[in-house]
Amino acid sequence: MAITNEKAFIAGNWKMHKNIDEAVELVSSLKQAEEELSEAVVVVIPPFTALRQIKKILEGSSLKLGAQNLFWEEKGAFTGEISPPMLKDAGCEYAVIGHSERRQYFGDTDKTVNKKIKAALAQALVPIVCIGESLEERESEQTINKVETQLRAGLEGLGEEDMSQVIIAYEPIWAIGTGLTATPAQAEEVHSFIRDKLEENYGNEIGSCVIILYGGSVKPDNTYSLLKEKNINGALVGGASLEADSFLQIAKQGIKAYKEKT
Ligand code: 13P
Repeated sequence: MAITNEKAFIAGNWKMHKNIDEAVELVSSLKQAEEELSEAVVVVIPPFTALRQIKKILEGSSLKLGAQNLFWEEKGAFTGEISPPMLKDAGCEYAVIGHSERRQYFGDTDKTVNKKIKAALAQALVPIVCIGESLEERESEQTINKVETQLRAGLEGLGEEDMSQVIIAYEPIWAIGTGLTATPAQAEEVHSFIRDKLEENYGNEIGSCVIILYGGSVKPDNTYSLLKEKNINGALVGGASLEADSFLQIAKQGIKAYKEKT
């Protein structure tokens, strides 16, 4: 079944934070509030070590589970890596792929991102594919070029059917963890470019339904104005997803914005 952007999609990427006890505490608080979140799709993306424990807590809950990365092989001598079947086994439905931190520190490239997307899809894991420009690229007006290249190379070889199972996250690198957020207009400019490209390449029906997330210093007080934009379907939240209160507020603001624009 195709994924659609009918609901606000709010995902919390915890990055390298939270031990198992802390993860359990945070997810338990979110679960208590889940009835208020039913009009959004809410995903927690903890470190690998907490996945299993969180899955147990989320049994029967509408909250979803995702992983922060994966390797494209199913199994073998790849010390330190985690495969898509392992993530499925741990209860994941989503996997972040090509986050800028992985591109910057761990050698992920558009080529490896492409392999990871295909490996995720082969196991029915929904890839959340991250793209975005650096400050230098923005200042030299290379934003659209950069995003276009990452989209083209990252999604190479994917058909319409595949694309109906992929989520894109636009995360300008200069806005990640810096407190600098793209303005709604700056973000929407890129999101609408991405939407146009997807419609051009995969047809209107598929392209118009793809979830395009914004990420980069999303906080409770900027979520509403970002998600009010036509092509911003949700948020990939870093720092503000580490506390139940702020993450819940973000989800509620997302729901409110979505209600008003649809
Ligand atoms: P921050 O919300 O901390 O800026 O992180 C964004 C991000 O990288 C989410 O993947």
